[in-house]
Parts: sequence; structure tokens; C-alpha cells
Amino acid sequence: MKVLVIGGGGREHAICWKLRNSPKVTELYCAPGNAGIASIATTVPIRATDIDALTAYAVKEQFDLVFVAPDDPLALGLVDRLSEAGIRAFGPRANAAVIESSKAFSKELMRKYNIPTAAYRTFTDVDAAFSYIDSQPVPIVIKADGLALGKGVIIAKTREEAKSAVRSMMLEGAFGASGATVVIEECMVGPELTVLAFSDGKTVVPMITSRDHKRALDGDLGKNTGGMGAVTPGAVLSEDDLRMMNETIFAPTIEALRKENRPFVGVIYFGLMLTKDGAKVIEYNARFGDPEAQAVLPLLKTDLTDIIEACLDGTLADLSIEWYPGASCCVVMASGGYPEQYRTGYAINGLEDVETLVFHAGTKFEGDQIVTAGGRVLSVYAAANNLDEAIEKAYEGVRKISFQDMHFRTDIGRTLPGADL
Ligand code: AMP
Ligand code: GLY
Repeated sequence: MKVLVIGGGGREHAICWKLRNSPKVTELYCAPGNAGIASIATTVPIRATDIDALTAYAVKEQFDLVFVAPDDPLALGLVDRLSEAGIRAFGPRANAAVIESSKAFSKELMRKYNIPTAAYRTFTDVDAAFSYIDSQPVPIVIKADGLALGKGVIIAKTREEAKSAVRSMMLEGAFGASGATVVIEECMVGPELTVLAFSDGKTVVPMITSRDHKRALDGDLGKNTGGMGAVTPGAVLSEDDLRMMNETIFAPTIEALRKENRPFVGVIYFGLMLTKDGAKVIEYNARFGDPEAQAVLPLLKTDLTDIIEACLDGTLADLSIEWYPGASCCVVMASGGYPEQYRTGYAINGLEDVETLVFHAGTKFEGDQIVTAGGRVLSVYAAANNLDEAIEKAYEGVRKISFQDMHFRTDIGRTLPGADL
């Protein structure tokens, strides 16, 4: 099988790593990739959002499968374009990927199909948003409607803070066009949990649970980021808890999308909050999470290409998906300043001394030297029989790596994000 993976972060490195372990994958390409991916796949210098160039390239090279991993090309309809051109592509079409690219759409879907989520209202008018804020308790959550790389969410402790967030989104364009519509939500309280799941549009099969740490600093302080680390399992859940989530959230979501003529084929991400009234949806993503993918995929025993083919053929119900037992931890090493201003181009030292897996995100080659090239630079992964050991082993790896201005959290897996809100 000749496979092309779209994207160039830690998540795509983990996907490439898993595909590389499949005996069915004979040729592996990644666009645009990064310095780590280059050691296991042929990297192709086409941006993940250049869907014209990617479609032309996939047709020219006659790939057997294209795995579209990031949110932007999914929202732009790359899967639709590839499918129309006769190339098998894994990921939702644009009309299903909208569950991530429009929070207003996903909230409305949940309301219509009774899927538990925070109470909310959507606004395109500043004055109406202000009067709503005046009528609600605080803290209150303000979100830009569109894709804002996980950064368009403000948990406002006061009404003034809430209004100033609305002002900067709607009037000052802090998140560009994404902020023209804002969603104002009830603030939910409880630990967060990520459940990734495969779907063929009818059946949904949850993966092992995971937990992301979105804030930049230890103790869940600082800005929201794309994710600073992840662990699996994400919570200790009983069979009953999982069955309940499946009955109230996972299956109804896939069913809702099917009924709306937007069948979801691909990996769906349920961002959940375990409130005292049960699990509720914080957000959906239309793809693997980053860094959740790096924590989850290495524990997947089943050949990923078998799962992808079952999703594309609509036969997921017939496949049994297996996992290795144990726990894993993935620590993100970032450029100092991320998610705001940061510098790149710094040499990364010590990579060859690390004994566990290191997935690259923002890295590139400068001559023979690997240098930093993005906000999130590396994710250092380790697995063990239990979470404490996995955390310890991952940090052992982190301690061997260095680059100027590096920043990482020292408490990945030690806190429950969201629990203290
Ligand atoms: P999102 O981009 O929607 O995933 O939001 C980013 C983060 O903001 C989440 O991981 C939560 O920690 C927090 N958050 C979002 N919505 C809510 C809510 N309604 N109540 C409490 N926390 C929230
Ligand atoms: N880790 C959260 C995300 O990928 O959006």
C-alpha cells in the first residue's frame, strides 16, 4: 500500500510511526512532515492547507490511501476533493468536519439530538451578547465560533472580563473571522477526559481514554495551548460509565450526523467533562487530538490500515480492535513563550540519548542539525505497567533533551485539568 499522510506535527509523526509498523504499508509519504517524520517517511514540501496541490500530487502519485490528519484541510474539504478524484482518503468530509470548525453548528446539533453539553447561546451582535452576560452567573465561557487552535476560549471569572473577551473577538478581530460569531456557555465543573473514536459513519468504536493538559504552565495555569502533554488512561472508568457515555454521547453523535446527511467517517474526538450530573461534551474535533494521538496510538495493537479500511468500507462493526495493556505519558517540549511569541531555529541536543519514542512536531533540518521550527517542538513518549512509571520514564527522556528557551510542564499526568475551576 502506498500511503500519504497530511500534516507535520507530533500527531502526524505518531500516525506515520504506527503506519510504518504495518506490513501492508510498502511506501509512506508525508506532506509537509518534519525532521522526525523524515526518518520514517518521504517528506513532501506541500503545505497541509494547499488542497489543490495536495490533490494534484495524490492523483499524480496514485496513492492507495491518503490520511488527512489536521483540522484545516478537513474543514477545507480535502477528503471531498480526493474522493472526487478517485483517491481513497481517510477523514471526514467537510460537511461532517464542521462539528469542529463551527462550534455554533456542533452546539445546535447537540441541542437538537439531546446530547449532554453546557447550556449556551450564540451571538453575532455585541449588545445582545452583553445583555446575555448580564443575566448569567459567572464564571462564564466565551468562545470564538471558528477554528482558533484551541486558543479562542476564555473562561471569564467576572462579567467585565466576559465583555472584554466578546469585545476583542467581535470588534477587534482577535481571532479574525472566527470571532465574528461568539458562543457563550455555562461553565461546567469537573475533570476533563478525551475519548477518541473510530467511525465508519454508522458504528463508533472508542479508543482507550486519554487526558490532555491544555494550559501552558504547571498547576493548570497560564494560557490555553494546543496541548502540553497527555496520558492514557485518562480516567479510571467502570464498564458502566463507558456504556453510559456510549449511549448518551458517542453513538447519538454519530447517529445525529448520519441523520443530518453528514456521515462521519474518520476519527472523532470527544472532549468531555465529567460533571456531577454525568459526562458532558465540551467540544468535538474531527480528527485525532495532538498530543492525545502520541499517547494513544503506540498502545494500539491492531494494524491501523485494517481499521482505516473497515471505516472506509463501512464494516467497522465486524472488526475487533485490540490494545496493549498499561499506561502511557507524553510530555510536550515547547519553545519558550508558546502559545504567544517565541523564537525558532535553535539546535536540539540529546535526541539520540533518549531511549523511548520521541515524536517530532516543530522541527526541521538545518544541514545535519535538527533545529526548532515551531511552538510545540517535541513530544516525548513512554509506556509502562502503570501511570506513575510511564510518567517517570517520559520525564527521564525529557531530561536528556535540551534546546535554548525550552519549556515543558513538570506535572503531566499529575493533575486533573478542569477539576479546580
Ligand atoms: P475547547 O477549545 O472548546 O476545547 O475549550 C478549551 C478548554 O476550555 C477546554 O479544554 C476546557 O478546559 C475549557 N472549557 C471550554 N468550555 C468549557 C465550559 N463550558 N466549561 C468549563 N470549561 C470549559
Ligand atoms: N489536544 C487537543 C486538540 O488536539 O485539539
